[in-house]
Amino acid sequence: MTPHWNIFADPHEVAEAAAQVIGEMARHAIERRGVFSLVLAGGGTPAAAYRLLGRQPQEWGRWEFFFGDERCLPPFHPERNSFMAGETLLDHLPLEPHQVHEIPAELGPEAAAEKYEPLVRNSRPFDLVILGLGEDGHTASLFPGQEHPTERLVVPVHDAPKPPPERVSLNYNALSNCRGALFLVTGESKRQALADWRRGKAIPASRIQPPIPPEVLVDEAAWGE
Ligand code: 6PG
Repeated sequence: MTPHWNIFADPHEVAEAAAQVIGEMARHAIERRGVFSLVLAGGGTPAAAYRLLGRQPQEWGRWEFFFGDERCLPPFHPERNSFMAGETLLDHLPLEPHQVHEIPAELGPEAAAEKYEPLVRNSRPFDLVILGLGEDGHTASLFPGQEHPTERLVVPVHDAPKPPPERVSLNYNALSNCRGALFLVTGESKRQALADWRRGKAIPASRIQPPIPPEVLVDEAAWGE
């Protein structure tokens, strides 16, 4: 499935567009189904979008937050994806604890994946899955050359080339089981991975196949033309 490529001048424009898309999808989902389930991406790129999103007037009590992947580090470690999401978005919202589902990655990859699996199974399809793109084409913590059992929705990850080496990730099937997927890709370092994806090369990001084409928000530095 060919994604929809959306090209913006710079990372700030990508963040603004992302916040707008997420906000609109939330309103739409809440209007139709009364809730909005959002899978958050880690890494650094989404931080600006999360900050803008948090300033929107939204029915925050109807949102439910999940994570696409987590790094196996102690709770509240500044390198955890949940820490970034807390700092930029979640800690500023009027949420009840039951609305935020962190991956208990401090338990280690196997135990954390096992614990998160039933939650993911019972929460699908997600309304929106946000994802990033790594320089090697990875997305969430699904890395090139690492295969995972297809029947698992949440998988333990070892030897990740991006530190830390131990991680937990939603699997391709779980990330694809959504009503929409939104990739945020900025910076020149992503140019090769994006070029591979555009050429139709099988990279982890291209294996996320929701029922409708993913929206990819890219800045000119990553797009490279
Ligand atoms: C992580 C991520 C990972 C990330 C990409 C892009 O734990 O690091 O979830 O998949 O989204 O590597 O990261 P940046 O946005 O920092 O470039």
